Amino acid sequence: MVRSSWSKVRVLPVVWFLFQGIPLLAIRLKPCDLAGQLYILDVPKSELPLWLCIAEFESRFNTHVVGQGNADGSRDYGLFQISDRFWCAPPNRTEYYAFNDCNVNCTHLLSDDITMAVQCARLIQKQQGWTAWSVYPEFCNGTLETIDECFQPHNATDCATSKMDEVKGC
Ligand SMILES: *[C@@H]1O[C@H](CO)[C@@H](O)[C@H](O)[C@H]1NC(C)=O
Ligand SMILES: *[C@@H]1O[C@H](CO)[C@@H](O)[C@H](O)[C@H]1NC(C)=O
Ligand SMILES: *[C@@H]1O[C@H](CO)[C@@H](O)[C@H](O)[C@H]1NC(C)=O
Ligand SMILES: *[C@@H]1O[C@H](CO)[C@@H](O)[C@H](O)[C@H]1NC(C)=O
Repeated sequence: MVRSSWSKVRVLPVVWFLFQGIPLLAIRLKPCDLAGQLYILDVPKSELPLWLCIAEFESRFNTHVVGQGNADGSRDYGLFQISDRFWCAPPNRTEYYAFNDCNVNCTHLLSDDITMAVQCARLIQKQQGWTAWSVYPEFCNGTLETIDECFQPHNATDCATSKMDEVKGC
């Protein structure tokens, strides 16, 4: 699967977002931004290519997407398109709602702060494996785009924020 060449995008904007408290304006994450944020949220580096693949094919890296395609009327929320049938509480009463295993309101999974979405996605992955995502067998079970570029050392100006040294390899 040939995908867009995003690996050269740098992690720098994450520095801004996480450490300067400046709100992220774009709702569509750059892949390396997502990689950096996942890493900071303790996702193992070895899993990053897979999470990026899933986010790409589920939401095209858009945090605010609510999918409506499911036959039972259920919806999928956010970056990892998490179902409101089993994992989060939908904003309105629904027929299909069964559990809220992530103990979160679905709308919180649409936030620019991806912490809740990541925690919930990891819980799903632990319980059900990668096949919990329908895009996995077709798009993400094979050779994945490397994330190495996201973590490579950059020029001096990029390394100004010392807290990101570990992520950026300064
Ligand atoms: C929930 O209900 C409100 C008010 O009825 C409506 O405006 C909103 O679109 C509904 N949200 C969803 C996700 O269906
Ligand atoms: C979810 O939203 C409801 C109101 O709609 C609120 O009462 C509840 O505390 C929220 N739950 C969480 C986990 O934020
Ligand atoms: C993933 O790929 C491996 C090797 O090609 C295959 O054996 C396995 O069945 C695949 N898993 C899924 C869920 O598609
Ligand atoms: C920044 O790094 C790139 C390659 O990583 C290099 O080509 C470029 O010359 C560097 N720029 C500066 C100002 O050092």
